[in-house]
Amino acid sequence: DIAYISGQFVEQSDAKVSIEDRGFQFGDGIYEVIKLYDGKLFKADEHFKRLLNSADLIRLKVKHTLEELKEIALKVIDKNINNQSGSLYIQVTRGVSPRNHSFNPDLDPTIIMYLLPPQPFPEELWESGVNAVTLLDTRWSYCNIKTTNLLPNILANQEAKDQGAFEGFFVSPDNIVIEGTSSNVFIVKDGIVITHPITNKLLSGITREIVLELAEESFEAKEETYTVEELYDADEVFITSTTKEVLGVIEIDGRKVNDGKIGPITRRLHSSYRKYRE
Ligand code: PDD
Repeated sequence: DIAYISGQFVEQSDAKVSIEDRGFQFGDGIYEVIKLYDGKLFKADEHFKRLLNSADLIRLKVKHTLEELKEIALKVIDKNINNQSGSLYIQVTRGVSPRNHSFNPDLDPTIIMYLLPPQPFPEELWESGVNAVTLLDTRWSYCNIKTTNLLPNILANQEAKDQGAFEGFFVSPDNIVIEGTSSNVFIVKDGIVITHPITNKLLSGITREIVLELAEESFEAKEETYTVEELYDADEVFITSTTKEVLGVIEIDGRKVNDGKIGPITRRLHSSYRKYRE
């Protein structure tokens, strides 16, 4: 497997970063995951735009344009012709410098790109649905930045797994459902598709955006906050992400949603998503 690291294409096992890389020491970096379908990047421009926006928000100067980043990505894919159905992982860190909390704004960022294998979860999950648990959102005020500083997300995700759940839903102290540990959350109530509006409390998911557009074509859709009680009381619940697409949730905190079956609107949206990305 060939990986890109700061100007070079190397065997993945030879791609190494310094122990003084600020991404390693401080989580001082940003990332994107772009799905590959038949060797083609899905929504590449949107992901690279979000990457450059995350960079701006943490005052990291990426010295490449969106087009240049895309060219590198295409080269990585070209060099890995046997592995083209997973995703492309992109990470940019502020770079290498002697350890210090404050940073030199002119550091050379470390840029890596390599291919991740397809999600390990089986195709049947889209048919059967998954379960989730709610967890207190202990994160910071800039969840709109796709930062590699994922400690709260990985701890919450592990907590969900330890409780036997597929995903954890972050809930604010005032009982609002924010997003999943690595997904956006939607509910359906009385035929209306509802998801949390875009604020600094959550990541503006690219899949979320597409699904909202698809939902508006056939149903009513709203970007509005909803509480845990409304989540429990929903007719349908599903999550969205680049790798999970539209995935039905059939149980939350041990309570069944729609009698433990994926609902009709979730099904419709998953199949329209699949059609859309073909
Ligand atoms: N996660 N919210 C969070 C916190 C996420 O980490 C993700 C994506 C999403 C969904 O965004 P999108 O639809 O653009 O993938 C929402 C990626 C897939 C990951 O970290 O692996």
